[in-house]
Formats: sequence, C-alpha cells, structure tokens
Amino acid sequence: MVKICCIGAGYVGGPTMAVIALKCPSIEVVVVDISISRITAWNSDQLPIYEPGLEQIVKQCRGKNLFFSTDVEKHVSEADIIFVSVNTPTKTQGLGAGKAADLTYWESAARMIANVSTSNKIVVEKSTVPVKTAEAIEKILAFNSKGIDYQILSNPEFLAEGTAIQDLFNPDRVLIGGRETPNGQRAIQALKHVYTHWVPEDRIITTNLWSAELSKLAANAFLAQRISSVNAMSALCEATGADVAQVSDAVGKDTRIGPKFLNASVGFGGSCFQKDILNLVYICECNGLPEVANYWKQVIKVNDYQKNRFVNRVVSSMFNTVSGKKIAILGFAFKKDTGDTRETPAIDVCKGLLGDKARLSIYDPQVTEDQIQRDLSLNKFDWDHPVHLQPMSPNTVKQVSIAWDAYEATKESHGICILTEWDEFKSLDFQRIFDNMQKPAFVFDGRNIVDAKKLRDIGFIVYSIGKPLDPWLKDMPAVA
Ligand code: NAI
Repeated sequence: MVKICCIGAGYVGGPTMAVIALKCPSIEVVVVDISISRITAWNSDQLPIYEPGLEQIVKQCRGKNLFFSTDVEKHVSEADIIFVSVNTPTKTQGLGAGKAADLTYWESAARMIANVSTSNKIVVEKSTVPVKTAEAIEKILAFNSKGIDYQILSNPEFLAEGTAIQDLFNPDRVLIGGRETPNGQRAIQALKHVYTHWVPEDRIITTNLWSAELSKLAANAFLAQRISSVNAMSALCEATGADVAQVSDAVGKDTRIGPKFLNASVGFGGSCFQKDILNLVYICECNGLPEVANYWKQVIKVNDYQKNRFVNRVVSSMFNTVSGKKIAILGFAFKKDTGDTRETPAIDVCKGLLGDKARLSIYDPQVTEDQIQRDLSLNKFDWDHPVHLQPMSPNTVKQVSIAWDAYEATKESHGICILTEWDEFKSLDFQRIFDNMQKPAFVFDGRNIVDAKKLRDIGFIVYSIGKPLDPWLKDMPAVA
C-alpha cells in the first residue's frame, strides 16, 4: 500500500488529504502536525476548519485510510510520498522583513525529514513558496541523505477557501513540477498517478520545478490584481456617477477578460494574496527588477486604499465622527462560507473605526469571539504561525462586543457595515433592523449584497461600493 504523509494539518493539508483519501481507497493518508490542539480537533466531531462538504468526507474516511496524528516522525519515516503544507509567513524581522517568505517551518520540516528517513522519499511542496525553494530543500536533504534518494516536486495548491472541496474534486488544473532527470520524471509520474484516480489526465500539467513554483505566485498575483483593478474603478465610479456593477458586467462580457472575479468590494483578504504578492515583489527586487516589483506592489496599495476609503466614508458620513457610536459589523471572515479571518479586510476596517473611538458590535456566523479578539489585537503577520506559537492571551479590545445574530448586533446602532457577503445577510428583515436603530440609520455595504433601493425606501442612508452616491454622501466626500 502506498503511504502518504502530509506535514501540516491546516486549511490546505486537511481538505487536500481528505479528498485524496476519499478518491484513493488503496492509499493510506496520514496528516501530521506539531499543533496538538489542531490534531485533536481533526480527530473530534468539531473539525478545526469550516469548509462545506469537508465534514462528511472526513467522517467517511477517518480511521479507514485517513488518519490525523502528532507523531510526526513516525509517519514521515514510513511514508513514500511526503507533502509539506506548513505555514510560510511573511518575515517580520531581518533581511526581507515585511516582504520575504519566512521559511523557518519549511526548513525545520525538511531537516526533520532528513533526520528520520530510512527509505527513498518523494517530497512534495504543497505550501506556497518562493521560487527556488525546492533547490534549497534539495540541498538540505542531499547534504543529510545517508544514501537515500529524495525527489522534490512542486505541486502548488489552487483551491479557494469556501469552495475547497468542489475545487479539489474538479480542479481547473493540477500542476506538478519536477526535475528533468529520469528519477525526477519517475517521481512526477508517481504523483500524477495519485491524481489520475479522479482528475482527467489532460488537466494534469507537468513542468520544471521553477515554473511550478512561480506559477502559483503568478496566479495569485493575477487574481488579486483583478480585484484591485475593479476596486480602483469603484472609486472612479463613485466620483463620476457610473455604477461599478454595470461597468464590470460590460467589461466581463469580453471573452478575453471574462466575468469572474470582477466584484467590487471593501478589499481582498485571505492568507495568500497579500503574502504571495509581497513575496513576488521581494523576488523581483532581489533579481534587480524594481519596475516589476513596483507594478505588483501597487495591487496591495490599492487594496489598502480601498479599506481606508471605506472607513473614511463611514466616518465622514456620520458627521465626521464615530466616537462613542455603536457600529454593527456584519461579517468578519474574509469571504463567505469560511470561518477563516486571516488578512480579512474586516480587521483593518474595525481597527480604523476603533481608531476613531467607535463601539463595535460584531456578528459573523462562523467566527468565534476568541478569534475576533485575537485578530484585533495581534500584530501584523503574527497570525501566520502555528496556533500554539502565537501570543497566548492577547488583550481583549473593550470597545468590541460579539453578537449572536445580526439583529442583536444592529440593535440601537448608528450604522451597519457589511463586510462579508454571507447569504443570510441578503434576507435580513431590514425594516425590523431599521426600527431598532438610532436615526439617521446608515448601511455601508462593503460587498454590494443588499438591495439599496429597498433600504432607502425603508429610510436608511445607504453606501454601496462603486455605486451612484446617496445625496447625503455626496455632500460629505471621503478622501482616503
Ligand atoms: P495553516 O496555518 O492553516 O496550516 C499550516 C499547519 O502547519 C499548521 O497547523 C501548523 O501547526 C503546521 N506546521 C507548521 N510547521 C510544522 C512542522 N514543522 N511540522 C508539522 N506541522 C507544522 O496554513 P494553510 O492555510 O493550510 O497554508 C499552508 C500553505 O499552503 C501556505 O504556504 C499557504 O500559502 C499555502 N496555500 C494556502 C491556501 C489557502 O487557501 N489557505 C491555498 C493554497 C496554498
């Protein structure tokens, strides 16, 4: 029986391995992690991450050919194929701080593999890593090989949180990069064989190592760039009276552009986009390409601008101060159908409002109070480390309370900010909400999900990103 071990039981390692176990009953899959609490959760009824469809798969396979364990060394030494899906945070100190990827966790995983292995291994980069990481890993393994053959493959993961299971079942492509040597090609075929259990062969692309590594960074940069492009347009729409939804629709009809990923919003979030672009920028700078670096940097700058612009709209609309006012925050996750809050725009929006002394009442259907408090008190980039290595008990932010539902959050509030596009927010009883709010009552829709006309008829002053402005807002321009 082929044995697979995945190091890192996170948003990528967990779902990816669960799907491999489901689709390949003849393969034994063990997911290992240094975080005891994560592994305990994977072995319980309350999985550590929320992802539609994941729970059923885990329940179906767990204990049969899918296992979760903290015995990292044992399972690594027994495996034929080792996936490495550990954190690759942005460095906060030293060379490349604020941009370069911190490969501490990756390197320690590689050294551990070298220490415990007694048979040949295929080591697969699943984490998103800088170009040429495979070369570094190869060196660590080769210098400690004790005669063992290690083949390094790059197999970046393209799943999107919220649709991870769907994406894994039916990927647009699976990308496998490897060495062009006979052993390298054999390793590629071995990994390809795993995926051919359910992925059509023509969707499995094989490349050299560096192309595979760079393709992942490039794909995320292109996706984030689309969001920043439409968000930049949204500011211009507000200034001119155009409607960003109409502009996106018209632009997206061009088959060369396509309609997806053209929704204006309060900004992109998630663990990857910003981190991967910063990483790309750093690689460009290191390779003497400052113009290319600056081009991609702009994608992040526009994202920060969009979040600032949103906060400024809120504050300026409410008589230029939110001090002491209750603002309801609907949605904290970085997008719907996930409980993930890493780099969610809600953090910056909330911090901006707290900076103006607002009182916040936050409701998200999938994010816990503890998580929200952590996010609002952790330093930038601290979130991207294993849970048990993050600061233990961050100070709670007193002006923040967590509500059980949208009605409680909005009760007696002055304004509402919609920051995640959860479906349940579309069907709220806004008349009831309006009746229980302070007047004038404001809605700032950071996701363009409410029917602005209907809300205006009820009596709300509504701000929708990139849409023609309410007369009230026109008189109070917000410059970021
Ligand atoms: P995560 O933080 O959810 O999971 C990483 C896990 O690795 C943690 O549970 C941590 O405890 C564990 N870990 C760290 N060092 C370890 C070691 N030496 N031994 C054993 N376990 C160790 O991170 P996530 O989101 O799963 O991301 C992993 C990688 O995949 C990152 O490089 C990320 O950029 C990339 N990625 C993430 C995607 C996403 O949507 N979250 C999508 C595609 C790629």
